[in-house]
Amino acid sequence: MLRGRFISVEGIDGAGKSTQLTWLVQYLQSRQLVLRQTREPGGTALGEKLRVLLLNDEMHLDTEALLMFAARNEHLQQVILPALAQGEWVLCDRFTDATYAYQCGGRGLAVERFATLEQWVQGREHGLIEPDLTLIFDVPLEVSQARMAGTRVLDRFEREQADFHSRVRAAYLQRAAQNPQRIRVIDASRSLELIQTELAQLMDEFLV
Ligand code: TMP
Repeated sequence: MLRGRFISVEGIDGAGKSTQLTWLVQYLQSRQLVLRQTREPGGTALGEKLRVLLLNDEMHLDTEALLMFAARNEHLQQVILPALAQGEWVLCDRFTDATYAYQCGGRGLAVERFATLEQWVQGREHGLIEPDLTLIFDVPLEVSQARMAGTRVLDRFEREQADFHSRVRAAYLQRAAQNPQRIRVIDASRSLELIQTELAQLMDEFLV
């Protein structure tokens, strides 16, 4: 059986990722793909417990980074790798690019530290397990801040100051520039119709 494909979806808080994800799921399912939708941090019973801690409890910055990778390891072992091996497609709301964006860009932890964790959790003989395609929904900070304002109770990351989110955005764009074959940046400040036309084209190319 063919290995399924692994797609991750990223963006700063308030970029409108959830709306696009819902649309993407419907689009891919309309193509008769067996799709596993999942998220990080989370995606397993243990991972969802870690998510509650990560989104709500104050902790040392290194603890935060290590818990992200602990949750990721469980997620890969229990969900992502078995699904891909069975030929399912995996659509994951955030993956390791989020760690580089938030923990390195936002929190300021050194990128070099993460190579070890990434190798530990995602390393295999033939290289790292990474998404086949990553979509970064990108919006200017004013747009994301306006979208988040007054919508619901904000979590620990969403409550961070504008300069934190600005560093997260810059780190995402840097990741995209460093990985042009894998990462596509989508201008999510446009109308839903324009965004979804671009997504449909992208998916059609990817499905070939
Ligand atoms: P979500 O609300 O978009 O699902 O994401 C949860 C939050 O977790 C989001 O603010 C980004 C943050 N996060 C990290 O800081 N590092 C990570 O590695 C991941 C996966 C998420």
